[in-house]
Amino acid sequence: MATTKDTKLGFTTRAIHHGYDPYAGHGSLTPPIYMSSTYTFATTESGQKRFAGEEEGYIYARVGNPTTALLEQRLAELEGAEAGLVTASGMGATSALLWTLLKPGDEIITDKTLYGCTYAFFNHGLHKFGVTITHLDLTDPTQLAQAISAKTRVVFFESPANPNMRLVDIAAIAEIAHQHHALVVVDNTYCTPYLQRPIEFGADFVVHSATKYLGGHGDLLAGAILGPKAALTEVRFYGLKDMTGAVLSAQDAFLILRGLKTLALRMDRHCANALTLAQLLEAHPQVTACYYPGLPSFAQYTLAQRQMAQPGGIIAFELKGGMEAGRRFLDALQLITRAVSLGDTESLAQHPASMTHSVYRPEERAAHLISEGLVRLSAGLEDPEDLIADVTQALAAIS
Ligand SMILES: Cc1ncc(COP(=O)(O)O)c(C=O)c1O
Repeated sequence: MATTKDTKLGFTTRAIHHGYDPYAGHGSLTPPIYMSSTYTFATTESGQKRFAGEEEGYIYARVGNPTTALLEQRLAELEGAEAGLVTASGMGATSALLWTLLKPGDEIITDKTLYGCTYAFFNHGLHKFGVTITHLDLTDPTQLAQAISAKTRVVFFESPANPNMRLVDIAAIAEIAHQHHALVVVDNTYCTPYLQRPIEFGADFVVHSATKYLGGHGDLLAGAILGPKAALTEVRFYGLKDMTGAVLSAQDAFLILRGLKTLALRMDRHCANALTLAQLLEAHPQVTACYYPGLPSFAQYTLAQRQMAQPGGIIAFELKGGMEAGRRFLDALQLITRAVSLGDTESLAQHPASMTHSVYRPEERAAHLISEGLVRLSAGLEDPEDLIADVTQALAAIS
């Protein structure tokens, strides 16, 4: 008879239990936080073998810690990856991975729209070290098919993209990239593995800002990389250990493990609240455009239905009166909080052109499809009636 040990457990069950035996050790129900920077060797020979990779065991927390290791195992399980690696921030994840994969002379092809600091890392950082950055409209995979060459080492994108919500067909892009031996990296921050698992569509690596939904409470910074075990070992011992040193603390790993236990419950509520607000915004006369993958009017609605389990918790929209109206709307909010970041329990709203995407010059924002008037709203977990009331009164205030 099948038991829970040999049946594939559900997403939330794995988010709560995977990789931890509460009966082992002292019988602690929740995983302990290992606050140790260094680990002992029973003998000199044992230490030598650990450094040589010939013996399992911890050495020093910059290359591993039992609490972060549990988080890595659990996230890999949820994303359907062979292995995981956690970092001190989302930027720590992207940079550790790309410093490892790329060398001077390589090309990285990315979508036009990227989170501001990722755009800056590529164009102001990697670019200085002889890596060519090519931005294409990856919502049209034929653009990739025409531009990709033997120099292309990595294809990188977000789906949905921050902040304008454009989606990329992961399977279509992965098929073209793999024909040319390029690696596909997807920033899955907006979705989490509960809504979208890019590796199942053919991506090679997933990166996350775990600062957002995975942590879920706006109280930490963290990142994660999921992918093949051998490649992540290289990232751990090069990109993370030597290049960035952006290591996650055990305390923060514990908080993310705690956050994961309620990830599915929280995402269901984020999505429900976002859909309610998107419907309200779309129907309002002050709103000229509302971008939310759950609206049938969304340009890539069919792709969203195919690729995402639910449309997510983020909405982008534009108001009559553009940037000035957007600013007045944000200032009129009374409950929804004016702040960057997303995926927290609190609903957050911000103006990408002057905040998260201000690193783009105005002409770059135009070329990268980020309009000056766009407002980004991350739906939190509050009661929907209160969010509706706040958005309604803020829209009335600018009418
Ligand atoms: C899509 C996306 N990727 C990466 C990052 C960077 O993550 P972190 O702030 O944790 O470094 C962010 C941050 O806002 C983001 O929105």
